[in-house]
Amino acid sequence: MRMILIGPPGAGKGTQAHNLVKRYQIPHISTGDMFRSAVKAGTELGRQAEAYMKAGDLVPDELVIAMVIERLGQPDCEGGFMLDGFPRTRPQAEALEGALDNAGLSLDAVVLIEVADQLIEERITGRRSDPETGTIYHLKYNPPPAGVADRVVQRGDDTSEACKARLTKYHDDTAPVIPFYEGKGLLVRIHGVGSPDEVLLRITTALKALQSHSAS
Ligand code: AP5
Repeated sequence: MRMILIGPPGAGKGTQAHNLVKRYQIPHISTGDMFRSAVKAGTELGRQAEAYMKAGDLVPDELVIAMVIERLGQPDCEGGFMLDGFPRTRPQAEALEGALDNAGLSLDAVVLIEVADQLIEERITGRRSDPETGTIYHLKYNPPPAGVADRVVQRGDDTSEACKARLTKYHDDTAPVIPFYEGKGLLVRIHGVGSPDEVLLRITTALKALQSHSAS
């Protein structure tokens, strides 16, 4: 399975990816996680990306595209992959298509998780993660258990101000990627409100329908 998870900030891409990669036995490639690791490790890439991320802006296409193409060339991606947070612009989508074409490969599905803007800020500002396991929590919807609650951390870009900037970027730069994949018959739209398990069931049901449709 070669698939993409797309959606506004806080839509639940990371939450859903966690379960989906186990189910489909594919690597989870989150460009946000890759940049956060690079920032933490103090690499040149991290240094270049940090200011953009903090402001809620997108990291320039050339940096993201080179990083992803290099990652997709690694052996664990031979049997498929899940891209989370990439592509986020038309040039990124076109570069991915070119790289897959060159390798004689194609995508199986693009899952768009839809959540209304009004719900996003609460999801973003309430998010916390466990630095030891990477598990994502929410102070209201999925609170960290005792023993974990005192070590959870908040992302630097999970402020109200950066959230507004990220949403604007999503509508201006990422939304145009949706018709690109819709036109290729790869897009499935998923209602992202409800419990994470309900959203997961919607995704797996839609993927099964897409697979049986393309097999027939
Ligand atoms: P990235 O890390 O990709 O951030 P994002 O797309 O803004 O997405 P988030 O990680 O904020 O949200 P999510 O959809 O994964 O939601 P989650 O599951 O955590 O990117 C960060 C930055 O890196 C970018 O702003 C940019 O600067 C840079 N970058 C990355 N990729 C790039 C690219 N391709 N090009 C250029 N720049 C790039 O859930 C959010 C919260 O909601 C959690 O607390 C969770 O517990 C809760 N939640 C989840 N599901 C539900 C539910 N069903 N009901 C209630 N609460 C829920």
